[in-house]
Amino acid sequence: ERGLRVSDRGFLNTAVIESSITYIDGDNGILRYRGYPIEQLAAKSSFLECAYLLIYGSLPTRAQLSYFEPEVLNHGVMHADAAGFFRAFRYDAHPMAILTSAFAYLGSYYREANPSLQEYLHEWCKGGPGCTSEHGQADFRLIGKATTLAAMAYRVRQGREFVVPPTGMSYTESFLFQLDHLSHSDAFPTTLTSGGATYRPHPVLVRALDILFILHADHEMNASSTTVLQTGSSLPDPYSAIAAGCASLYGPLHGGANEAVIRMLVSIGSPENVPEFLAAVKRREKVLSGFGHRVYKTSDPRSFIIRKVADEVFAVTGADPLLNTAMALHDAALKDAYFVSRKLAPNVDFWSGLIYRAMGFPMDFFPVLFVVPRVVGWLAHWRQMMLSPEGVKIWRPRQIYVGPSERPYVPLEERQ
Ligand code: SDX
Repeated sequence: ERGLRVSDRGFLNTAVIESSITYIDGDNGILRYRGYPIEQLAAKSSFLECAYLLIYGSLPTRAQLSYFEPEVLNHGVMHADAAGFFRAFRYDAHPMAILTSAFAYLGSYYREANPSLQEYLHEWCKGGPGCTSEHGQADFRLIGKATTLAAMAYRVRQGREFVVPPTGMSYTESFLFQLDHLSHSDAFPTTLTSGGATYRPHPVLVRALDILFILHADHEMNASSTTVLQTGSSLPDPYSAIAAGCASLYGPLHGGANEAVIRMLVSIGSPENVPEFLAAVKRREKVLSGFGHRVYKTSDPRSFIIRKVADEVFAVTGADPLLNTAMALHDAALKDAYFVSRKLAPNVDFWSGLIYRAMGFPMDFFPVLFVVPRVVGWLAHWRQMMLSPEGVKIWRPRQIYVGPSERPYVPLEERQ
């Protein structure tokens, strides 16, 4: 038995599956969904098109999209039943903890509805474009459910009623409408329609969030997707596997980093304090959130796209003074030998929090905005595993044992 090398820790050198969903080249900063470059998808596609692409492997035709979209948008979250569940949380519960629990809550419905889980799993995965069976549509619906559960987690803390998903809106517009957190801000006009004020999200913000959703939809075997597959490999209901992935994404080393970046920028305060902050990072007293990545050893390609989206959003909302601190930190770190020698560059989380803050979201809701699109990637990988020709094998890694060798039991009175 050889000693566990540092290079093996944290799955550094481990490929756990073969996958045809997402390709990353960490040395050259390349990211593709099913072969399509992320830059082209962000510029020309919509989040729902990308969702279809990631799950089913091809860009949807108009007919396929006209089937897929309503299935996602009319996902049928049971507001009446779910309301009691959401109201059980304290007023200040973190929305990520609420959302993690909410996915597990959905699992409670499927157990009782399906006598045979194996049959359900098969039915769920067989469903696809043109599928009409109830189970087969479940995967579409989870994508839509995620927006409503997130909106319920947001509104329950404000003591506000829940909003039934509207019709006639796009996926992202519907999400913003259900949140309805912007309609009271003067940055986002409310348009009056017959019979009352109907809030319509600002089109620039809808497109900005749709692009952010595209960029966050999948990223091959990141910690949360691995968690979904690790959990899913013992064949619980898929909602329970998704709940496990949500818990993994919550951490500040993963999806929680977008919230941690803003807390870091607020603590730095202004560009003049950047050198002292970086000195503390080098002393390992602080972490430079939003920098570094296990795979990218150059800048994360998503960070360039997000930086451009930020300028478009700030043109509508007004620039955030924290942007100056962020840019000073970004520029100083990229020139500093400590970070350059460790190949640390901005990742997807460095700029995204500034956009969410400009759009009026509270900081602790930022990781939720990562979960909503990432449900698509989790689903795509879970489905790929369930449909694998060689069947599902439980994920059960080994260890290197370094504990004591065999020794006899010592009775209590003889222990000192
Ligand atoms: C996401 O995996 C994915 O694809 C994730 C993601 C996705 O889309 O799913 O891309 C989304 O989670 C992006 C990452 C968000 N997290 C952060 O921004 C948190 C800050 N980053 C670090 O915690 C770290 O960079 C990780 C967790 C992202 C990666 O950690 P690794 O691969 O285990 O790297 P490491 O800790 O071994 O670092 C190598 C060296 C170490 O220095 P030495 O001990 O060798 O001297 O770089 C240093 C680390 O101390 N280092 C940092 C640092 N990141 C790494 N030093 C200061 N600040 C940092 N941010």
